[in-house]
Amino acid sequence: MRKKIVAGNWKMNKDLPSSISLISDIKNEIAGKNYNTKIIICPPATSLETAGVLLKGTNISLGAQNMYFEESGAYTGEISAKMLKSVGCQYVILGHSERRTIFNETDEIINLKIKAALKNNLKPIFCIGETLEERENEKTFQVIERQITYGLKGFTELEIETLVIAYEPVWAIGTGRNATPSQAQEVHKFIRNLLQIKYSSNLSDNLIIQYGGSVKPENARELMAQNDIDGALVGGACLQSDSFIKIVEAAE
Ligand code: 13P
Repeated sequence: MRKKIVAGNWKMNKDLPSSISLISDIKNEIAGKNYNTKIIICPPATSLETAGVLLKGTNISLGAQNMYFEESGAYTGEISAKMLKSVGCQYVILGHSERRTIFNETDEIINLKIKAALKNNLKPIFCIGETLEERENEKTFQVIERQITYGLKGFTELEIETLVIAYEPVWAIGTGRNATPSQAQEVHKFIRNLLQIKYSSNLSDNLIIQYGGSVKPENARELMAQNDIDGALVGGACLQSDSFIKIVEAAE
């Protein structure tokens, strides 16, 4: 049985005081509850250190939203995997469509970032997904296959086992228009089949594949009830503790 993971990608929201208050709301909301679902929050970089301290001893894990693939040096503005580890991050979102489109990250760059994350024992939440145009031109499976092939190039099955994959159709992100449960399931199943062909049934059966894109308390249960959907990567709805925790409860 695969464990469900619900992760909140805060994106460029919440300064330090409001991060502290959201974390405290989330902690209050889940106090005394014992979920089977793994909960991860990914605040902006400026809040990670404090979040790391506030989450100590809780069952909430910390993730970052991005990192650079070099270890150190003259890369103004960038943050390394080791730096993220040093403030308590266990996960890092890589390949998010906003990084791909707004910041021109290619499959090759994402591959280097995954490599650096793994080297530093950070678990990548590896995002893939097609644009609306690609879907309308029936290129969805082709795009997913390309992103997986190049994004995961050169890694052993043992390394890939530590990853989480997040399928996030770009047209569903921040639009309020989620993929229907059957549309999402179809792609998740395709990803699982691809992993089986490229690697093994063991990897394909055990890898966690989250869905992301306009996940809300109202649609979370049905999405996560699909056979191959193992949780959610949540944007907008994770910025309030009550809607975020409702999604966690839907995963249960
Ligand atoms: P929304 O939930 O706001 O659509 O964002 C999804 C997302 O991009 C999570 O990484």
